[in-house]
Amino acid sequence: MKQRLGVLGGGYVGLAVAVGFAERGFPVVLVESSEARFQALTEGSFFSSEEDLVKAFEKVKEDGIIHITNRVEDIQEVVYLFVCVGTPEGKEGKTDLRPLWAAVEQSSPYLREDACFIIKSTVPVGTGDQVQAWFNEKGKAVQVLSYPEFLREGKTLEDFRQPSRIVMGGDPHHPRVKELRHLLAEFSLPLLLTSRRDAEMIKYAANAFLATKISFINQMAQLCEVLGSDIQTVAKGIGMDPRIGQAFLAAGIGYGGPCLPKDMASLMEQGRMQDLEMPLLAAVTRINDDQRQWVRSQLRKQWGELKGRFLAVWGVTFKGGSEDVRESQAVSVLEDLLGEGVHIQLYDPFGLEPLKRQWESRGVLESYAGQVQWAKNCWESLERTEGLVILTDWQEFKEVDLQRLKTELPSAFIVDGRNLFYPSMMDQLGFKYVSVGRKV
Ligand code: UDX
Repeated sequence: MKQRLGVLGGGYVGLAVAVGFAERGFPVVLVESSEARFQALTEGSFFSSEEDLVKAFEKVKEDGIIHITNRVEDIQEVVYLFVCVGTPEGKEGKTDLRPLWAAVEQSSPYLREDACFIIKSTVPVGTGDQVQAWFNEKGKAVQVLSYPEFLREGKTLEDFRQPSRIVMGGDPHHPRVKELRHLLAEFSLPLLLTSRRDAEMIKYAANAFLATKISFINQMAQLCEVLGSDIQTVAKGIGMDPRIGQAFLAAGIGYGGPCLPKDMASLMEQGRMQDLEMPLLAAVTRINDDQRQWVRSQLRKQWGELKGRFLAVWGVTFKGGSEDVRESQAVSVLEDLLGEGVHIQLYDPFGLEPLKRQWESRGVLESYAGQVQWAKNCWESLERTEGLVILTDWQEFKEVDLQRLKTELPSAFIVDGRNLFYPSMMDQLGFKYVSVGRKV
């Protein structure tokens, strides 16, 4: 019988961790304290655009290898507790650690003395040591590990099954750590065992580096536009150098989502707390904030005044393949356009309901009602519009029937914030096509 595992938090990370271990035969107790999410997970009404995750989740549920509960008491038999609670951005970039400390306090009475408390959530450097000190003070022999998760939304299970590496911070001589290391050896992946502080820092540094690559390529795209070069060819050419690599060099409207912006803010805050300014990270953030102006400036070049224009907008989620609209750069651009008085027919394969909920909770849904029409599909969004703006790189958009698009969009004017099509092909088809950092 394999070791019993516990997972606290059934969000993106927690669900992938729980399902990923369960499908490898580990009995998993998944604790979800939000009543709405608990019901969705137990009643099967939970939604994800990730098909393989949904399928694998149903299978492990059917096989009875995963037990979903809303009672933290159910972790009593667990030897490894993976803590996957949210660590949102608080005031001035500070990480809000209240959900983590609640997890520590609530699980402590039920944790076995020989258990490992494994922090999967992204937490500021030093947090793992503080949690270890807390358990020590309580006289509990629990071992704390920092085991950050690098998975991407939309590919959470795929990334859990096949991550590029496992980074684990903790005491390498502790028997449970040795056992976990042995257990993870079956994944046949490069494993870096280090201190908790290193592991925590690796997670932030990785996301900051990815954000830097994106802002770098977006800055180069701006230069390509004025100098007449093509950013896609430039990215390909520099990426052929293995020291640089092809990944994360797609120019566009900038990065967003629940991780990159928050982790950049947190890293800068952690530096500031030690009187260390980080001008590189500040510039990366500024370039990203400025990049959202790109769409507006292209529309202004075409029309001058934007007030009263009718546009179709495709995409509101922070990237294709995810239904998440949190910190979405697409939503920021959309709101800028609404602020200019543009009328918008909006389409996204999965993001419209999440956006409605977000706007409702921010109290702005009503105020946008007169300006926004919610389209059922991409074609409906085009009716009587003067142009199309693309803000998210959904596969559905990449595969759109361009001949039909030409017919249904009489102006043939497209501002593509995600560089989905070849400019030469769009030109041949008769579109007036504008994309980021590329020649028309
Ligand atoms: C990120 C990290 O990739 C992952 O390792 C970590 O665990 C969580 O944060 P995620 O937030 O799911 O994952 O999104 P990611 O795929 O990294 O994309 C982030 C943003 O960057 C998106 O808005 C995306 O559209 C944008 N992006 C990405 C670009 O603009 N250009 C690129 O080349 C790549």
